[in-house]
Amino acid sequence: MERKRALPESIAKDIEEATSSLLPKKSRDAYYKELNYFNNRNQENNVLVQILKRSHSFKNLNTNAIVLGIETSCDDTGCAVVDTNGSILGEALHSQQLFHLANGGIIPPFAQDLHRQNIENVVNTAIEQANIRFEDLHAIATTVKPGLPLSLTIGMKYGKYLCWRYNKPFIPIHHMEAHALTARMHNKHVTFPFLVLLISGGHCLLAVAQDIDKFLLLGTTLDDAPGEAFDKVSRRMKLRNIAEYSQLSGGQAIELAASKASDVLQFKFTTPLLQYKNCNFSMAGLKTQVQRHILTEEKKHDVQPDGVIPHINNLCAGFQLGVTRHLCQRVQRGMTFVKRENIIPKSKQTLVVSGGVACNNFIAKGLQLVCDEMEYYLVRPPPKLCTDNGVMIAWNGIERWRANLGILHDFLDVQIESSSPLGVSLIQDVIKHNISCKWTKLTELTQPRV
Ligand code: KG4
Ligand code: ZN
Repeated sequence: MERKRALPESIAKDIEEATSSLLPKKSRDAYYKELNYFNNRNQENNVLVQILKRSHSFKNLNTNAIVLGIETSCDDTGCAVVDTNGSILGEALHSQQLFHLANGGIIPPFAQDLHRQNIENVVNTAIEQANIRFEDLHAIATTVKPGLPLSLTIGMKYGKYLCWRYNKPFIPIHHMEAHALTARMHNKHVTFPFLVLLISGGHCLLAVAQDIDKFLLLGTTLDDAPGEAFDKVSRRMKLRNIAEYSQLSGGQAIELAASKASDVLQFKFTTPLLQYKNCNFSMAGLKTQVQRHILTEEKKHDVQPDGVIPHINNLCAGFQLGVTRHLCQRVQRGMTFVKRENIIPKSKQTLVVSGGVACNNFIAKGLQLVCDEMEYYLVRPPPKLCTDNGVMIAWNGIERWRANLGILHDFLDVQIESSSPLGVSLIQDVIKHNISCKWTKLTELTQPRV
């Protein structure tokens, strides 16, 4: 018989902190009583938990489940209700983008406060839109890793609180696994195994998804994530001082400015890590090159401190092309490695690209050219599912529910983790293969627009 651990004091304190402002005094007392109950439970309680677990695994195979998903790993407070068919019954999102844009980047304590202020409303909106009661849910899935600790904490505490209050199982979710599997919600052709490129503000990963909870990591970033580089470069370019871009994320602003370029090749960029035959990524060199171009142009044109250099659109286009070329090369080497190692059958060759930067149509065109040449099928979730959202968390909860993986009835000791690698690393295996590739030509992307 499995023995349950007593509730650690620190966790009781954590939950108290997250819920004290949300619970009326009466239910708070009941809640604390419940916590004591967990602390003091005896063998019979454990028997009860075992029975519940068994009846749950039986139910999974037979019911159309409804799962609530909560996302607070960074600067979006997201919640959604999704069912086993992949229908989104309700969803709500509170974005902190404008707040952080005005502050020159994410300041974690502010992000936490905004999550705290908005989480209840976001969750209630999703539930109301779904036209269900909390009692109708089968489980509550919540991002617990990786992410900003202060942000993750709010979602985790609120998720646990709801599970306690409505007596539902808790499903802890890995944010990157959720990004990776979102494509499976709408596209039934995305079956395991498949290749996945996750490019966002916080991450840059190339991996093989083998199963819901099994990933092989082929490459990761050595410095910034692409979205982070887009954001920093956009700030250095002072794009926010142009009214049209003032409300956009760095990546959105650069993509829009680049779409107006007259000469994509005016500013030369060398592709990062060309001599390293692995699938890792690096954005540092591209950022430095932008900085150098800006300094030269500012001097040449005597640009004022808050001014923007002439030909800014061409500079955006050059940077975006540099990022695209780099991503495409790493993906192409990953595809070659996967083929040599026979990891994905030829009939299943699929590349899923997700994360906020996957919204970029120029990058997607580059990846499409690579997929055409390597005989891969490219899948990109719709933009609102590429960026952070509650739907992907609820869907990951559904995937886990159906497979009966990580559905916790006893969840009080689950903790957040700020960093958490995705799957098993094959990075050294890729290096051993020393793969040279004949790069897919991207010249189509640099042709002047007619
Ligand atoms: O996935 P996400 O919403 O949050 C993270 O987990 O990071 O991604 C946000 C990032 C931001 O850095 C933003 O600049 C970038 O995605 N992004 C883009 C585009 N739209 C958003 N980057 C390039 N092109 C875009 N169109
Ligand atoms: Zn994300």
